[in-house]
Amino acid sequence: MRMISRRQLLQGAGAVLGAGACPALLRAAVAQELVIARPDHVIRAGTNENPYGPSRVALQAIAEAMDLTNQYGRGHYDELIQLVADLNSVPVENVVLGTGSGEILKTGGLIASWDKGSVVCADPTYHDLVRYAGNAGSEIIRVPVNENLETDLDAIASAIRDDTVMVYLVNPNNPLPNYVTKDILKDFVREVSKDRMVFVDEAYFEYIEDPDYGSMIELVAEGNPNVIVARTASKIHGLAGLNVGFGFAHPAMIERIQALKTGRNNILGIEAAYASYQDLEFQDFTRRKNKESMAIVEQMFEELGVRYVKSQTNFTFFETGIPVREVNAALLDEGIQVGRPFPPFETWSRVSMAKPEEMRYYVQTFKRLFGRRILDSAA
Ligand SMILES: Cc1ncc(COP(=O)(O)O)c(C=O)c1O
Repeated sequence: MRMISRRQLLQGAGAVLGAGACPALLRAAVAQELVIARPDHVIRAGTNENPYGPSRVALQAIAEAMDLTNQYGRGHYDELIQLVADLNSVPVENVVLGTGSGEILKTGGLIASWDKGSVVCADPTYHDLVRYAGNAGSEIIRVPVNENLETDLDAIASAIRDDTVMVYLVNPNNPLPNYVTKDILKDFVREVSKDRMVFVDEAYFEYIEDPDYGSMIELVAEGNPNVIVARTASKIHGLAGLNVGFGFAHPAMIERIQALKTGRNNILGIEAAYASYQDLEFQDFTRRKNKESMAIVEQMFEELGVRYVKSQTNFTFFETGIPVREVNAALLDEGIQVGRPFPPFETWSRVSMAKPEEMRYYVQTFKRLFGRRILDSAA
């Protein structure tokens, strides 16, 4: 990215730095002496991807598999299932491969509607499973997050009806990147899964390093017949375009999912994932860079005094106080794509972590466009 000098900044960024600009903003904007010029590409900060992925080893595996794309062959399919089973300390009978975790989610939704029952979920949450279940005939019972914007397990428990066949939990949630701690969630899932299925979506599992967070695959390992967990290679592995995801469940549930799912993974995705899940260095690198980007964005939140949800995922969610469509259109004009609106949070913005240098440009741009307005409205 091209850097420009402080003098150029002072000439070109009058909206923030003109007369009456907030001293804190002014200090923050010029503290680095240099600012970042608009990059020659659109910054993808809207769909929670890995800005670095796929890893080099995954790219090498994809290149080697190119010649095999005329075949129906499954390449390292068995080895991939074995690897992912080993990484999660379960037998292969507990694992199913999906064309993205989206396929596992939709199949979960299909199973719920097949069983002619309602589905309970937090609101807001990720849409794939509940939208599919709703389209297939299930009633969806949405339970608003609590005043701290956390998944409200007590309210979810109260919302469960006799006809509820599935509870869908995204942990960490999306677009709210907070999570329910492992012990609390485990007790909840154990209890609720006595009478119905509990589907736990762990798409952002690999980003979280806090010891109080944990996977519900442990309940699958214990033999629980009613727990399904989904994971994806789309996030930390950077393989969103190749659609590789996994379901973990009791062997009988795995058979049910296998029988209903319609996708078929392609060889490029299988080979890429098999390589990537062995590449721990790339995952460490991604986590490190992700934290760097998050710190840049959170510093802006602190400077502006906005409300935001503390995140260990690769996205964040904050209250601008400005209609999200207006924010999104203005940012897109400046070459930055951020997350779509998430009703009822009409004045909140979801921002995915791109590379740190891209997030510096985002912060600089966001402050220039909206910093003054946000500070004035708080005054
Ligand atoms: C919570 C959650 N689950 C699942 C997915 C879908 O992942 P996949 O690409 O594996 O279908 C996403 C994608 O953004 C997500 O945020």
